[in-house]
Amino acid sequence: MIGRTTGRPVSITGLGSYAPERVLSNDDLARIVDTSDEWIIERTGIRERRIAAESEAMSDLALPAARQALARAGLTGRDIDLVIVATVTADMAFPATAALLSDQLGSTEAAAYDLSAGCTGFMYALAQGQAMVSSGLAERALVVGGDVLSRILDWTDRSTLVLFGDGAGAVVLEPVEEGGFLGFELGADGAGGRDLTLPGSGSRAVEPGQHEFLTMNGREVFKFATRVLVSSAEAVLEACGKTVADVDVYVPHQANVRIIDHAVRKLGFPDEKVVVNVDRYGNTSSGSIPLALADADLDGRLRAGRLVLMTGMGAGLTWGSALMEWTLDTNGASQ
Ligand SMILES: CC(C)(COP(=O)(O)OP(=O)(O)OC[C@H]1O[C@@H](n2cnc3c(N)ncnc32)[C@H](O)[C@@H]1OP(=O)(O)O)[C@@H](O)C(=O)NCCC(=O)NCCS
Repeated sequence: MIGRTTGRPVSITGLGSYAPERVLSNDDLARIVDTSDEWIIERTGIRERRIAAESEAMSDLALPAARQALARAGLTGRDIDLVIVATVTADMAFPATAALLSDQLGSTEAAAYDLSAGCTGFMYALAQGQAMVSSGLAERALVVGGDVLSRILDWTDRSTLVLFGDGAGAVVLEPVEEGGFLGFELGADGAGGRDLTLPGSGSRAVEPGQHEFLTMNGREVFKFATRVLVSSAEAVLEACGKTVADVDVYVPHQANVRIIDHAVRKLGFPDEKVVVNVDRYGNTSSGSIPLALADADLDGRLRAGRLVLMTGMGAGLTWGSALMEWTLDTNGASQ
């Protein structure tokens, strides 16, 4: 699916993020499985990640991020009429985490549902929220992306354990006079779905002994990721009549520094335009892009008028890009 946005312009008018307090370093992991700080840094660029407390579920990560985003937009939960939570680790299969969140925020007039598109979930949710607000079906949407992947990891499997972390981010989408989202490109390749799965988590029966742990064919996912980060970015830029040179801030999914480096080289971005925080959070799935946006906001890179390109990819296999003209004034220190 690809297209330029039509209808009334819509933009991000509030932004917030939350990462659990507990920091788990590579050395901490080396005490749990047979790995090392050197291996993890060399193969992934990750130095540490955040891990949710026992008592924390997805809605607990979403709530502070959402409150921050609403405050930034100058709104309260009551002003919101659509809540989408992109996650693969909802509090439970139902009720939707979005419904629980709406209740906590006092969004009594809001439609609320969860969206599952793996690590690409936030990009899919942005596209839906944008389209609903642009068409007038919704007035103000809250889009949350986040995951508590530590709950679905096999803590004895070094090949997956070292890659992931917990975190969430949230944005408010509202109509604006000009700027905002220019276009989206979203896709899925179900044939590759087997390369990144959570068996036993739904209605498909599993063999006895198979548990509800994330399973991954790392090499295949690596190849897929390096391909789609480039092709999706190129596609959305072309659809919107823009080039890489026009982009001011590039926010790729934070899975692995090597994957990001590959995309950056192929697309031709200078390093200063690329947002990277995978070293501090690992791969937080649907939390990855909003957490990276929040960091870029804090370091002063996101300013009104700047062209921002985001591309996610993940389980499905899925991918998705958004191109937008940033409209929110900077929150950053370095103004
Ligand atoms: C997982 C990933 C980092 C592995 O890196 P790699 O360079 O391909 O490493 P390989 O899988 O070839 O493994 C190399 C060796 O390291 C070992 N290894 C795997 N994990 C290890 C770890 N945490 N510590 C030490 N050694 C490890 C392997 O067992 C293998 O050993 P062997 O050669 O004796 O069999 C890489 O494939 C990757 O990033 N894939 C994409 C994952 C991803 O982004 N998923 C989410 C998408 S949303």
